[in-house]
Formats: sequence, structure tokens, C-alpha cells
Amino acid sequence: MPDTVGYIAAEGFAAELEGELARAGVRLRGWHGDRLLLAEPPALTPAWAEDVWFDARELPVPSIKQAARTLKGLQRNWALLTPPAHVRRANLIAQQLPHVSMKPLAFPERPPAAPLGGWTLLDEGRLLASPGTLSPFPHGRAGFVEDRETPPNRAYLKLWEALSLLDQRPGPGDRCLDLGAAPGGWTWVLASLGAQVTAVDKAELAARVTAMPGVSVRRDSAFALDPARDGPVDWLCSDVVCYPDRLYRLVTRWLQAGAARNFVCTVKFQGATDVAAMDAFASLPGSRLMHLHHNKHELTWVSLKRWRAGSHS
Ligand SMILES: C[S@@+](CC[C@H](N)C(=O)[O-])C[C@H]1O[C@@H](n2cnc3c(N)ncnc32)[C@H](O)[C@@H]1O
Repeated sequence: MPDTVGYIAAEGFAAELEGELARAGVRLRGWHGDRLLLAEPPALTPAWAEDVWFDARELPVPSIKQAARTLKGLQRNWALLTPPAHVRRANLIAQQLPHVSMKPLAFPERPPAAPLGGWTLLDEGRLLASPGTLSPFPHGRAGFVEDRETPPNRAYLKLWEALSLLDQRPGPGDRCLDLGAAPGGWTWVLASLGAQVTAVDKAELAARVTAMPGVSVRRDSAFALDPARDGPVDWLCSDVVCYPDRLYRLVTRWLQAGAARNFVCTVKFQGATDVAAMDAFASLPGSRLMHLHHNKHELTWVSLKRWRAGSHS
């Protein structure tokens, strides 16, 4: 059993993370800086954590050289979470560690498969290091080589990030529904991967997106679709602006009808975070609720057919 679990809060959502862990009965040890919340094992994967340090342990720092040697002895790749104090000392240790490329990802390139540990200084004489982390990105900070010309907005970064975190993505031959598709960032992503996309929105999509091979448009409400008539689909994606309970009713209709294999849906909060809705999405079998680095006051709910079949819950 590791000593400690570290949860890296999504920026601006520390209170949400703390509340979520407290509701789950996790014994909290306290914050280190404003992003790292330390808690007792076992580790969970809360929605408001962009990264989890599964097996953090405290290690002595008798000297900078020795600290680097200890970290290198655990594994090769480490990302420093800047501590609230002793920043210079932490940077000197980091300089002695093997170089890790933090280059932005050129989607559809996949994130590095090699384990990336997280570490920080607790004080001058102690560091906290976790060889095992949830995110393949340093502290969950997903960075991409952005396309500032083709997609009509920056919403595509959410779908790039969600698909980068999954080991499955749409491709040629897959049927996708993109609900709340305008102006077309997500449709652009799906069509670029070679999938057939039906983009559903009452608003208009950018012409350069609707002209892409495989894209068809329905000027309709997402809620007017009928799973029996409009399914089955391989991927149901939704970025519709609506109350979480309305989206919940929509996805459960598609789930119960067995009309969508995989789901990637944004759960958007208006005003306060709707904790009851979060719990409802989180308890849908074979799914995961997460705050992507590119999410605002919203969460991304993902469910894969494979997970529902039992290999993940
Ligand atoms: C955040 S935008 C989606 C951005 C889109 N994912 C992209 O990448 O360009 C939300 C969209 O939801 C649409 N919307 C709101 N209510 C809807 C409904 N009932 N049915 C379909 N779309 C809806 C809005 O018209 C708006 O275009």
C-alpha cells in the first residue's frame, strides 16, 4: 500500500475536488500548494482531478545529487510539480534528471506510453514522488500542436484530448453522431479521422466543415432524435448546451436502446456544480467522468462498449 495519494485539482476547481473526495469518504491530509491535495489510500479517480499520483511516497533529500539519484532509481521519466516553496532547489534536482520531452502532441499522434511519474518538494529535506500517475500528460496538462486555421473554433481541443486519453477512437467505417455540432470543431475532428459524421444542430455549421467527405448535416434538435430510427451508431458525441439532467435522459435512452457503442459527451454546469447529476453520470456502468484540461465549468462523460462489457467500470 502506498503512503499517500496525490490528486491534482483541475485549475479553478479545488473546492469541487475536495468536496468530491470528502463525499466519497476519502480521508484528506491537506493541500500542498493550491493544486495538490494529499489523501490516504486507496486511490480513486475523481472527476475534478486532472491527474492522480497513485503511489506517492516521501523520500529524504539529503542533497540535490542524492535526490536525483533516488528518483532515477525509481524510474526514468519524471515531471516536477512546482512546489509552493524551495522552487530553486526543486529546479536544481529536476536539471539532474533525464530529459523528458514535454512537446505538444500532434494529434492523432498518441501520448507517450512510457510511465511518467510526478514529484514535488514537501520541504527542503523531503520530496514526494509517485512513479504511477493517471495521466500520460505532465500533471494532466494536455498540450497539442494547435490548428489555428481549419477548425472553426477551439472546441476541437476537448475532443482531441478525450480521444488521446482513450485507447480507442473513431475511424473509417465508423458512424458518428455529433450532437450540438455547430460551428463544427468536433465534426471536423471526426471527419478528419475518416469517420462518417451526422452533425446535428439547429445552428449552422461552417461551410468548410460541411464540405468534408463523410459529413452530413441535420438541422434538428438533438433531443428529437430517436435511437430506434437514427441509430445504431458507433460513436455518440455531444457538446450540446443543456442542463445535465436533460443530457442524462438523452444518453440513458441511447444506452438502453443499445443504439450507440461509445459515448463522449460534455456535461455542462450552469451556475453551481450539479453534484446529483455528477453522481448520476458517474454511476452509469462502464463509464468515466473527467475534467479535461480543455474543459471549462463542465465535465466529459465517456462510456465505451468495451468497458460496459466488463473490462472497466
Ligand atoms: C458549445 S457549442 C458546440 C461546439 C461544437 N462541439 C464545435 O466543436 O464546434 C453548443 C451547441 O449546442 C447547440 N444546441 C443547443 N441546444 C441544442 C439542441 N437542442 N439540439 C442540438 N444542438 C443544440 C447550440 O446551437 C451550439 O451550437
